[in-house]
Amino acid sequence: MIGMRVLVVGQGGREHAIVEALHRAEDSPQIFVAPGNPGMEPLAERIPVAPDDVESIVGWSKKNEIDFVVVGPEVALAAGLADALRAVGIATLGPGAAAARLESSKRYTKDLLTRLGLPTAPYRVATSADEADALLATVTYPIVLKADGLAAGKGVVIAENADEARATVDAWMRDGALGPAGETIVIEDFIRGEEASVLVLTDGQRWMLFPPARDHKRIGEGDTGPNTGGMGACAPARLPSEADAIAFGKRIVDPILRTLREENTPYRGILYLGLMLTSEGPQVLEFNARFGDPEAQVVLPLLEEDALPLLWNAALGRLPADRHATFLKYRGAAVCVVLASRGYPARPATGDDIEGLEGPWQHGIHLFHAGIDKHMGRWVTSGGRVLGVTARGVNLEEAREAAYAATSRIYFAGMQYRRDIALTSEQVGRTDP
Ligand code: GLY
Repeated sequence: MIGMRVLVVGQGGREHAIVEALHRAEDSPQIFVAPGNPGMEPLAERIPVAPDDVESIVGWSKKNEIDFVVVGPEVALAAGLADALRAVGIATLGPGAAAARLESSKRYTKDLLTRLGLPTAPYRVATSADEADALLATVTYPIVLKADGLAAGKGVVIAENADEARATVDAWMRDGALGPAGETIVIEDFIRGEEASVLVLTDGQRWMLFPPARDHKRIGEGDTGPNTGGMGACAPARLPSEADAIAFGKRIVDPILRTLREENTPYRGILYLGLMLTSEGPQVLEFNARFGDPEAQVVLPLLEEDALPLLWNAALGRLPADRHATFLKYRGAAVCVVLASRGYPARPATGDDIEGLEGPWQHGIHLFHAGIDKHMGRWVTSGGRVLGVTARGVNLEEAREAAYAATSRIYFAGMQYRRDIALTSEQVGRTDP
């Protein structure tokens, strides 16, 4: 594998974390990223192609003799990028479009989970606004509304009452705010518990787990305000335990992978299990067809083994048999604090100068660039989630302290971040970072 040419597709903090993990590989691969961002330039050569421009990525990869592609974002998977790359003989980590429906169609996933008798909240499906209104008259609030299709993190609303639910139906189904993604919706019972993200590396049959992670999705401390793409993460999460995570894999991942193999749409890539841990056991909230973001920014820095051969072998359908249903080797804990621009998530501002990115940084600090650009030598904001500040430590407390200490050195106008990343709900309000 010496001299391997690897292309990472995507441009955010997740892809920066993937690039960094590959850069640590023993065999020193040559790394390219399409399109990447300026923060990745020390580690990877940037290719100016959009992640869902399938034809250009395949053409460029062939011409440039790429050996291996790791696909970051769901839009590229849903567009069939992994299918197209495999069709020309390029090993690719990421499911084909049919298997990626686990993320790109909430309805497909709920139907599949139900068919397999796997634990998930009761739901109904509406394919018109009138049908949704009629269903919403019969439910108990709060209720969860999910757009069927991909909606860039904007497709889930927890409606506290009928007015909020109807406003969402109006926006998605009558006004077309999400385009075709919102033409069908899933209306799901709200379940309480502790959320966990379990990221699974699979070759379609065998699988291995990254340390369980926890994402903080709402913009405000104490899990208040609108949903975002994720305002921070930690790993290993306090729950589930390693033994429970392996048990969930056997209960949930095995039947899903088996079904996809039987349907001739094997799943090779990262399968993200979004779980709600309840007193009655885990419930599947969602699947994603890729690394979570910001979860990737905590699980990848924790790895104590070379990620490249494992990702490569998963892509080729040959994860080692003796590693099936085990964890990738990791050590310690990591906390990622996401710095978001003013106005995020509704109307993120861009173009604000960012100060304090220069090091030196203490060992174990990683700055994963997302919505950042460079203009005339100055770093400026260019998106909603600007930067993930990750710190590693021997435990969550130490990692958390280091992540907030690093965060305090960075500034841009209107910078928003949550002060309660990695705290349990019981701890929120009692600790002042
Ligand atoms: N952190 C949630 C996601 O990646 O979808």
